[in-house]
Amino acid sequence: MAFQDFDYISERRKNEQKQKAKNRIMIGVVLFLAVLVLIAAAACAYVYINRNSAADGKTGKHSTNHPNPAKDKAAHAKDDGNAATLKAVKMLCSSTDYIQTCQDSLSKYIGSNATASKQPKDLLQAAISVVSAELQKVYDKVSTMNFDTPELKGAFEDCKVLFQDAKDELNSSVSSVHQQTTTSLSSSTPDLNNWLSAVMSYQETCIDGFPDGDVKTSMNTSLQSVKELTSNSLAIVNQVSGLFSAVNFGASRRLLDHDGLPSWMSDEDRRMLKRKDKSKDKSLVPNVTVALDGSGQFKTISDALAAMPTAYEGRYNIYVKEGIYQEYPIVSKNMINVTIYGDGSQKSVVTGNKNFVDGVRTFQTATFTVLGDGFMAQSIGFKNTAGGEKHQAVAIRVQADRSVFLNCRMEGYQDTVYAQTHRQFYRGCLITGTVDFIFGDAASIFQNCVMYIMKPLDNQQTIVTAQGRIDKRETTGIVLQNCKILADKGFEEDKMKFKNYLGRPWKEYSRTIVMESEIGELIDPAGWMPWEGDFALNTLYYAEYANTGPGAKTDSRVKWAGYKGIISKTEAQKYTVTPFLQGDTWLDSNTKVRFGLSS
Ligand SMILES: *[C@@H]1O[C@H](CO)[C@@H](O)[C@H](O)[C@H]1NC(C)=O
Ligand SMILES: *[C@@H]1O[C@H](CO)[C@@H](O)[C@H](O)[C@H]1NC(C)=O
Ligand SMILES: *[C@@H]1O[C@H](CO)[C@@H](O)[C@H](O)[C@H]1NC(C)=O
Ligand SMILES: *[C@@H]1O[C@H](CO)[C@@H](O)[C@H](O)[C@H]1NC(C)=O
Ligand SMILES: *[C@@H]1O[C@H](CO)[C@@H](O)[C@H](O)[C@H]1NC(C)=O
Repeated sequence: MAFQDFDYISERRKNEQKQKAKNRIMIGVVLFLAVLVLIAAAACAYVYINRNSAADGKTGKHSTNHPNPAKDKAAHAKDDGNAATLKAVKMLCSSTDYIQTCQDSLSKYIGSNATASKQPKDLLQAAISVVSAELQKVYDKVSTMNFDTPELKGAFEDCKVLFQDAKDELNSSVSSVHQQTTTSLSSSTPDLNNWLSAVMSYQETCIDGFPDGDVKTSMNTSLQSVKELTSNSLAIVNQVSGLFSAVNFGASRRLLDHDGLPSWMSDEDRRMLKRKDKSKDKSLVPNVTVALDGSGQFKTISDALAAMPTAYEGRYNIYVKEGIYQEYPIVSKNMINVTIYGDGSQKSVVTGNKNFVDGVRTFQTATFTVLGDGFMAQSIGFKNTAGGEKHQAVAIRVQADRSVFLNCRMEGYQDTVYAQTHRQFYRGCLITGTVDFIFGDAASIFQNCVMYIMKPLDNQQTIVTAQGRIDKRETTGIVLQNCKILADKGFEEDKMKFKNYLGRPWKEYSRTIVMESEIGELIDPAGWMPWEGDFALNTLYYAEYANTGPGAKTDSRVKWAGYKGIISKTEAQKYTVTPFLQGDTWLDSNTKVRFGLSS
């Protein structure tokens, strides 16, 4: 099936950029003035404090029986220091949702370190370090719990992995903050938001893995503190960087080179993204070839991955020749910048059938798992063939940051695509399923994709998305842009006998935007369905923009507080590739990607 690609409208984009620059300058000027006012205020305060301490000094001089003026002065300075620290901590914590947790943890952390700096940046670093320390503490504590059934043991095994993932993200965050100055921090903000959102998500996934019961409750209770601290860190990141980002707007974005391409992007990556027809592209040279018939170096993708060198430069290209590959490959965390491409999404297919009903936890059912950042897949299919009656059965689970899927197929029933964490971009993909078939807590954009709804079980409804944002500060969500949401051929006849929805809230702050898409008539006029009772209906964010088709009418949509109806263009713009995924820094801006809205 061919997917329409839209011409790149350079003129419009130029104008948009001009307008944006103008806006930025305006904001910059306003913030600059605000900072001037702050500096002036600080200067006044400084003069005031100095005058006061000078007055203190005078009294000191006059008091004849002062035992040790030098020591007294030092103590004074220390008190002032503590007071100033406390003030800084209080100010920083004021923007968080868990103010007391924030103040307690930060004061304690800084109080125990005499040399600690009170620069906002250092406080932020401290705030993130606190999360890491708390996570370790919780881990040590829950490790001693009694996991006495295979289910509990298994769930805890997942948790161990997820805890490590969370620790890695926190580690990256701390290093990243450490490398910045307070004023340059805004350049790291998108990454920090991205990593810290993932930290939240991993904790939740750990808890979700346990069957309902005491152990789950206890895990949840234990992790509450970590959740609060993570949420606080997100708040602080945005407070600290927000103050400086606009003033510093020149440096806050990685600049595009004169072609309008991100200057750091390798030629190879650009070619990959610009490519329209793989067979005509001589530039893509596989590092290894996988072929079922033995004509490559490997017969399975897993073997090819296992044989990857530990160190290499640039991308590592794995060509998967036509064939049905029955295996469960994992692109692990240390496999960075891997490209897997096939002969076509119906020719080169990876397939499996792990599922929930047969006793595999949803997290582990994926046929194909991607953890390594910078992953790209093209012209290849991923399937889970367990079928609807086996319930949760993931075809592909993606944790990889800056991951790209071009002209791929993801086929399954319930939970087909698990867009778990980080920034993900799907273009020209075909995705099939019944229940929650695109779900997870990544920041993901599905562009020019087709969602084919399959026939569900008799007692089921179908739901395209189930986004899992846990905290309102997470920068995650599912965006469907320029997609088609239609019935699969096998469901066409019966499609109106079932209820079909765009999405439902898996978690409290579920966020999904459907825009510039064609919505088939099978989508219920209500559009969206609840998860359970009134759970999340006030806190979620569901929105639509410029959709077409018989299912796009919004006059009978749900009336929840969280349902935003048709949003403005300005609002919709926030969920496009550049602002939402920072795609301008890692995706080619010439052809295959639409960075903004199409209208
Ligand atoms: C104390 O603070 C300094 C500077 O912020 C930092 O380098 C050091 O690692 C901290 N020490 C501890 C024990 O936290
Ligand atoms: C964090 O990263 C540093 C350097 O990248 C590494 O030395 C350290 O072991 C890491 N810590 C953890 C807990 O992974
Ligand atoms: C976890 O605890 C929080 C706060 O006590 C509660 O709101 C939430 O529903 C709990 N989640 C689970 C899965 O038990
Ligand atoms: C992968 O292939 C590219 C292009 O042929 C080459 O430059 C690169 O060195 C190869 N990498 C490895 C690890 O073999
Ligand atoms: C992966 O690719 C990106 C962009 O091309 C590059 O900046 C990064 O250094 C690469 N990472 C590795 C480990 O090769």
